[in-house]
Amino acid sequence: MANTILVGAQWGDEGKGKIIDVLTAKADIVVRSQGGNNAGHTVIHRDTKYILHLIPSGILRRGKICVIGNGVVIDPLALVGEIEGLQKMGIAVGKNLLISDCAHLVLPYHRVLDEQREILKGHAKIGTTKRGIGPAYGDKAARTGLRMCDLIQPEVFSAKLKAKIKENNSILAAFGANPINFRDVNEKYLEAGEKLRPFVANTVVWLHRALQRNKSILFEGAQGTFLDIDHGTYPYVTSSNTTAGGACTGSGVPPHRMDVVLGVVKAYTTRVGEGSLPTEDAEIADMLHEMGREFGATTGRPRRCGWFDAVAARYAAMINGIDELAITNLDGLDSVDPIRICVGYRLNGKRLDVPPSDAAQLENCEPIYEKLPGWKTPTEAAKTFADLPGAARTYVNRLAELTGAKLTIVSVGPSRGQTILL
Ligand code: IMP
Ligand code: MG
Repeated sequence: MANTILVGAQWGDEGKGKIIDVLTAKADIVVRSQGGNNAGHTVIHRDTKYILHLIPSGILRRGKICVIGNGVVIDPLALVGEIEGLQKMGIAVGKNLLISDCAHLVLPYHRVLDEQREILKGHAKIGTTKRGIGPAYGDKAARTGLRMCDLIQPEVFSAKLKAKIKENNSILAAFGANPINFRDVNEKYLEAGEKLRPFVANTVVWLHRALQRNKSILFEGAQGTFLDIDHGTYPYVTSSNTTAGGACTGSGVPPHRMDVVLGVVKAYTTRVGEGSLPTEDAEIADMLHEMGREFGATTGRPRRCGWFDAVAARYAAMINGIDELAITNLDGLDSVDPIRICVGYRLNGKRLDVPPSDAAQLENCEPIYEKLPGWKTPTEAAKTFADLPGAARTYVNRLAELTGAKLTIVSVGPSRGQTILL
C-alpha cells in the first residue's frame, strides 16, 4: 500500500475508525499523529465493538505495528487503561505498540482547567470533551509541558510536576476550584509511567528506518478538518492540526514520503460540541437518533446532524489535498426522500462557495440546497457498487463530484464486510 494519510473531511466522527481498520489489512504500520483521548474510533470486529481513544485501530490486526507519534497528547492513566482494556478483551498489546518519547502528557490540572474554562465561558463554551486537550497543547506551545521522556525518568518527572502543580494550583484557586495534590498525582503517574516504559521510543527514527525498508504506513487522523486549530471553525475547534499536514509534523515523516490523502466523509453531516453547522436539521437528527445512531463514542453526547455540506467538503479537499474519497454511513439515509445537498452558502444576499473564516459569519450563512431523490431501500447488504440502488449510486457520485475527489470506498454499515471498494 502507498503511504496514506487518512483525514476526516467534516467535523469528526466520519467513521474513520472503520475505514482505517479496513485499510490496515494492506498497511504495515499505523500511526496516530495528533489529538488525544478526545478521539473515539469505533471498530466492530467479529461482533465485538471496540472503541479506541489513543491507540491506533491497527492494534486489532495481528502483525501490524502501531505508533503513537510525537504530535499526540497522552493522558498516561487513560493510555494504561486502554492497553489493559484491550488485553482483557484478548487483544495482544506488546511489541506492536510504540509511543513517542516526545509526546506531551495530559495531567490532572489540564482536565480541571478544561472544565473550569468551559464553565466560565457559559453560553459561549466550546463543548469540549473535557479531557484536558486544549490546556495540554497550550502548555506545549508555551514550552512548559511535560513529555513522555520526562515520565520515564522519575526524578525529572517529579521535580517538573511539583513546579507545575504549584503554578496551576494558584490558577485553580483563582477559578475557585479545588487544588491538586502533588503526592497523589506523582504516585499514580509514575506507576503508569512504569507500565508505559517498555513502549516508549524515538518513533521518528523508528519510522524512518521502516521507510528505508519500504514498509507502508497509514496515518490515522483523529477529529476532522473543521475542528483543525488553524483551518477549522475557530474558536469551536480542537487544539491540534487535524488536517493532512499534521500527519507530517506529528510523526516526523516528511511530506515527500506521503503518497495519498484519503478523505472520509459521512453521507450526511454531524458535529458534537458547539459552533456552527450550517446544514443542521432537526428532522434528520431525530430520525438518526431514533435509529440509535449518532451518539458520541467518547462522551455519549447525541451528535448534531444535518445534510451533506459540499461547500465544506470541497474546502476540506483543498486544504488536505484529498485524492480519494470514502463515503460512510450511506445506510443512514436509506429512508430519506428527497435528500438535500448543500451546494453553496448565502450570506447577506451574496453566494459563497467557501466557508467564511469568521465564526459569526458562518453562523449566519444559509445553505443553498440541491435535491436528489432518495432510494428508500436498505443498502446494508450491498457488497458491490452495482448492488446499490441507482439513486444511491447517483447520490454518492454527486457527492464525489462536488467534493472534487475520486470516490474509492462506500460504507453501508459498521462491520468490515459492509465496505464497498470501487
Ligand atoms: P476538545 O478536543 O476536547 O478540546 O474539544 C473541542 C471540540 O472538538 C468539541 O466540539 C469536541 O466535541 C470536538 N471533538 C474533539 N474530539 C472529537 C472527536 O474525536 N470527534 C468529534 N468531535 C471531537
Ligand atoms: Mg469519533
